[in-house]
Amino acid sequence: MTVTAPLHFAGYNLPKDRPNDAAFQSVQPGTPGGEYLRRFWHPFLLSEQLDHRPKVVRVLSEDLVVYRDLSGGLGLVHKHCAHRGASLEFGIVAEKGIRCCYHGWLFSNDGALLETPGEPPDSPLRKRVCQGAYPVIEIDGVIFAYLGPPDRRPPFPTMDAMVMPGNRMKPYLIASPCNWIQVAENSMDPFHVAFLHTRISGPQFSEVFGTLPLIDYHETPNGFFYTNARRVGDYIWVRSHDYLLPNFSQNGAIFENVERVRYFGRPGLTRWVTPVDDTHTLVIAWRHFNDRDDPSGLGRPEDVGVGKTDFYGQSDAAPYEQRQDSPGDWEAWVSQGPMTSHAREHLATTDKGVALLRRKLRRAIDALANGVEPLQAKPEATGAVATMAGDTILRIPLDPKQDDREVILHVCRAVAAALMETRHLPDGERRAAMQDRLSGLNTADASEINPDHGKIFEFKTLG
Ligand code: FES
Ligand SMILES: [Fe+2]
Repeated sequence: MTVTAPLHFAGYNLPKDRPNDAAFQSVQPGTPGGEYLRRFWHPFLLSEQLDHRPKVVRVLSEDLVVYRDLSGGLGLVHKHCAHRGASLEFGIVAEKGIRCCYHGWLFSNDGALLETPGEPPDSPLRKRVCQGAYPVIEIDGVIFAYLGPPDRRPPFPTMDAMVMPGNRMKPYLIASPCNWIQVAENSMDPFHVAFLHTRISGPQFSEVFGTLPLIDYHETPNGFFYTNARRVGDYIWVRSHDYLLPNFSQNGAIFENVERVRYFGRPGLTRWVTPVDDTHTLVIAWRHFNDRDDPSGLGRPEDVGVGKTDFYGQSDAAPYEQRQDSPGDWEAWVSQGPMTSHAREHLATTDKGVALLRRKLRRAIDALANGVEPLQAKPEATGAVATMAGDTILRIPLDPKQDDREVILHVCRAVAAALMETRHLPDGERRAAMQDRLSGLNTADASEINPDHGKIFEFKTLG
């Protein structure tokens, strides 16, 4: 809220409530936002979290039970048995499906009622009753579910970063007690990287992030991406960041130091932000490990998993005092509140990305409410959805005769255009095509190491 006067000691005059926008922020069944989210696949568990017993999970405000049956099939069903409501977390997994502990009803993984052992053989129940069930898919240690209408189920969108040659993926899952949109917005706010991660509490990644970036937004057939560009000595560094509605994003290399020319860096992670319910969220992502994007080997796969990842500020694992002295992303988005109040914010120029995301989300939610199905990511002929995230570094020393801001923006646009024009190519060919298109922009020897590159900094304790 804006007050005209006084602007000093105005605590008494300012509102104390923090109203939210439930139609937009809620994920519950039947709400506009909840129905919209039910048109997409969402990850909700790592395979390593599921043993031979059923497990209670909550996804999009629904209480569910996930299990692996004795033949290896996965089931995801409503928690309460269709008979008289006993929880299937106490069910016994069968060769195919799950049997409720209370009266022995057996359900297949798609929810069909297969056996009712206490009922007469000609009981009509099996033709009339089923258990609520949802399709699941398991990919490289991550389990995804689709909770929407069966006839609207989209194919799972395999992203190109999930099938990069010469890359190792390791998944992580971290919980945050807050609404999903504020977690998602963090990745549409590139300016926080200069403040939260660098200037305010000292470099948590590399000091090269401390310069405010020049940001440019680019539409793609599947969503949008933005480029952040900075000058680091003789080099121009363009970092591209994907966002696909509703909740998918990728950023560049986690430990980028801008050490040498690179034409086609690829993402350091492939991430979804999954709503558990209105005020709880899971970040589920694969970290990528390869020599191309982390030549110094700073990534630590052993620190990536359930409740943890190998870069700073993603959970509440560190001591509270350390998190106060050097807060990270987790502290920022969780402390906005269980469901942050948009009505009490004052959006500013650094929030252009956040405003863009909210506009696009609102438009898609309203469209679905009016019967228009949302856009789904389309794969290229390669079989994978082309993504853009990664770091491009070119050697273009400062030219005093030119406006450097214009030079940097020109490079950004050239990188964005090259990413778009090569998107139909498989990884190796796209890599070569990116080099072809961009190497001519170097104006000095591209083989040298940048003497002004970011320091290989000391890691802060992750907790
Ligand atoms: S409550 Fe599940 S079989 Fe009776
Ligand atoms: Fe961040």
